[in-house]
Amino acid sequence: MDLYEYQARDLFEKYGVPVLAGIVADTPEEAKAAAEKLGGVVVVKAQVKIGGRGKAGGVKVAKNADEAYEAAQAILGLDIKGHVVRRVMVAAGANIDREFYFSVLLDRANRSYLSLCSVEGGMEIEQLAVEKPEALARIEVDPLTGIDKQKALEIAKAANFPAELIEKVSDAFVKLYEVYTGEDATLVEVNPLVLTAEGDIIALDGKVSLDENASEVRHPEHAELEDKGAADPLEAKAKAAGLNYVKLDGEVGVIGNGAGLVMSTLDVTAYAGENHGGVKPANFLDIGGGANAQVMASGLDVILGDPQVKSVFVNVFGGITSCVAVAEGIVKALEILGDAASKPLVVRLDGNQVEEGRAILAQANHPLVTLAAGMDEGADKAAQLANA
Ligand SMILES: Nc1ncnc2c1ncn2[C@@H]1O[C@H](COP(=O)(O)OP(=O)(O)OP(=O)(O)O)[C@@H](O)[C@H]1O
Ligand SMILES: [Mg+2]
Repeated sequence: MDLYEYQARDLFEKYGVPVLAGIVADTPEEAKAAAEKLGGVVVVKAQVKIGGRGKAGGVKVAKNADEAYEAAQAILGLDIKGHVVRRVMVAAGANIDREFYFSVLLDRANRSYLSLCSVEGGMEIEQLAVEKPEALARIEVDPLTGIDKQKALEIAKAANFPAELIEKVSDAFVKLYEVYTGEDATLVEVNPLVLTAEGDIIALDGKVSLDENASEVRHPEHAELEDKGAADPLEAKAKAAGLNYVKLDGEVGVIGNGAGLVMSTLDVTAYAGENHGGVKPANFLDIGGGANAQVMASGLDVILGDPQVKSVFVNVFGGITSCVAVAEGIVKALEILGDAASKPLVVRLDGNQVEEGRAILAQANHPLVTLAAGMDEGADKAAQLANA
């Protein structure tokens, strides 16, 4: 789960990372009141979970409360790369002398943690990594020892911080790492970490991603950080039903068991769609190992609730769950859904007890269901039906 900047700021504060005062506002009036409360120059910042807000006009300096009102008026409602701004943060203005970059993240490929750090912050780090890779230090962080003072000094030196700043920034790195482990994050990024004219090191922007696997048991308090209003209604419904569902932008609903099989089904479906008007997969849905009737019904219910969906491709490989259970699940799910099941279904079964499973579907002879012998054939048929 990605956090908003203001939520990251609050977490930073809790762990003693130096931040500036910030107040969220949902209207220009609230932004004005916030600016009055903070006093002096403020910066009005769009709260959206996407980078590049500054360039898109989502970060504006305001010299007084009236300017803060105007800035909020301009930013609220702004569409930043498909994210509409509903809230701003009014932050105290910093006297910036220099901007740096720091992050610590989960490095899945190396089964380790990684810290990225540069004295050339502020600009997009992806751009820096391409144009001046030598300016971006990459330091592996052992999860067992983390970023202690010694490691923090190593990072600061590798990033070429001037000698007089090394002590101060390394303190901030240690605290940012405490946020990272303390909250079970997979990313803590500060861009920019600044040196002010007064000589202070401050985290001026924060991006934090939390590991949702840790939420339920280790961090029940993270539930409050979730942005329920902004979640896609279908994704929210799927989550409530305990399904692994991600909404995509196509017309062919996809159901499979096992993330790997579902991912390859998406590829095969997109490929087949090229021959049928360019239709694409409408979602990712992994019904996992125990594909019983209720799970199948919930899954179909979510997918059929997507008005963009024109056909559904069910691609199941029977392993521990036999094809008999899956076939019975599909038949019962269609019974449960009744008239709500209104779009054609292409079903491909293989694996454990495949013959028996196919026989059950053939016998049920449901008018919406077509059986496919293989994955390519099923994808082609589903794409064709979606394009009909
Ligand atoms: N509180 C502040 N005081 C003074 N200047 C600020 C403040 N906050 C941000 N800025 C300036 O605005 C620039 C952009 O701000 P910020 O990094 O928060 O947004 P962004 O980088 O455009 O957004 P994102 O990080 O989402 O890509 C900063 O690099 C900094 O120069
Ligand atoms: Mg930034």
